[in-house]
Amino acid sequence: MTTMSTIINAWVLLVGAVSVVKAQDLIPGFVQTSGTEFVLNGSPFLFNGFNSYWLMVVASDPTQRYKVSGVFHEAASAGLSVCRTWAFSDGGYQALQKSPGVYDELLFQALDFVISEARKYRIKLILSLVNNYNDFGGKHQYVEWAISAGVPVTSDDDFYTNGVIKGYYKNNAKAIITRINSITRIAYKEDPTIMAWELMNEPRCQVDVSGKTLNGWIQEMASYLKSIDNKHLLAVGMEGFYGDSTPKKVQYNPGSVKYGTDFITNNLIKEIDYTTIHAYADIWLKGEGDKTKEIFMERWFINHWNDSRTVLKKPLVFGEFGKSKKDPGYTTQSRDSFMNTTYSFIYNFAKNGATIAGGLVWQVMSDGMESYYDGYEIVLTQDTSTRNIMSVQALKMASLAH
Ligand SMILES: *[C@@H]1O[C@H](CO)[C@@H](O)[C@H](O)[C@H]1NC(C)=O
Ligand SMILES: *[C@@H]1O[C@H](CO)[C@@H](O)[C@H](O)[C@H]1NC(C)=O
Repeated sequence: MTTMSTIINAWVLLVGAVSVVKAQDLIPGFVQTSGTEFVLNGSPFLFNGFNSYWLMVVASDPTQRYKVSGVFHEAASAGLSVCRTWAFSDGGYQALQKSPGVYDELLFQALDFVISEARKYRIKLILSLVNNYNDFGGKHQYVEWAISAGVPVTSDDDFYTNGVIKGYYKNNAKAIITRINSITRIAYKEDPTIMAWELMNEPRCQVDVSGKTLNGWIQEMASYLKSIDNKHLLAVGMEGFYGDSTPKKVQYNPGSVKYGTDFITNNLIKEIDYTTIHAYADIWLKGEGDKTKEIFMERWFINHWNDSRTVLKKPLVFGEFGKSKKDPGYTTQSRDSFMNTTYSFIYNFAKNGATIAGGLVWQVMSDGMESYYDGYEIVLTQDTSTRNIMSVQALKMASLAH
């Protein structure tokens, strides 16, 4: 008690003496970039983090909110400091956006809760704004809405070019970014709890695999988002596939084919602040041997790290990777060893040339979420050996910040 009142007295004196100290100086700041590094409150920001896509939908049932608090509590105590999650659910069950521009206030309050809890546990959030896939609506739902409104579109990839649909996307992004949190009363666009927005989860474009169509969309949406929020970082949310600007590098893509993104031109866009890669060798190289997958992972990592460092000159986040229990021969040990190897890569490259700032494993869940399991689930309270590996990595990454 004495110690506490001494601290408070000293604090009162300090605040009294340094009259320029304002409330907002006392809360952690916005993550920014400086060259190929992230910076937070004047220091390099390196991290270990995780994906938990489910936070908003689970929080939409108030009796289940303890799972959101629980996962942040466990993650924070393991030293994890960044969480990537969905700020989208378009149409259908548990929709945030029920139809273009029409929101379910309960879902918005659930997202408010997620952000407010992350703030409490000092975890930075990366929020993705729409899905490439049909889960939680995705670009398919946007196209369906346009068709219902009589717009002559047919392909899901019309999402990237049709004016009406681009308008839906912009309006939705604006509604989210300018939302005032009902719990903290802070506008999302003013909240340093949010580390970054992602334009889309894993954009791909089949009708134009060159990367040019997506490049136009990314440029337009990135400019728009920055015009309403220039405090937060912005990323594409891409998996890292190479396109037409680097024909020699297409061979490094899974299957040596193109997917509609262009890692180089898409990330050269000025409004895009950092680059991302995802990697699922077990899915992308299904049927290949372990050695082939290892070589793929290593090349995937080194090429994108080098490109981010020397060509794009922006930090890189390894946004998704993981090991599924559904894979043949899976054991806890095989997952631990996979994560250990991936973490060593991240750490060693971060140490010798920076650029890579951290990884986000797919994915962390809470106790009692069996119905959500996808094979990749890590429950920190149960998977103790995996938790230890994640925690050691968090310490190692944080140690590079000094
Ligand atoms: C890294 O990128 C630079 C610039 O494109 C290139 O000259 C160099 O060969 C690359 N290094 C590796 C190891 O790929
Ligand atoms: C992880 O890697 C380190 C060295 O990089 C090694 O000492 C440790 O035993 C590994 N742990 C597991 C669980 O594979």
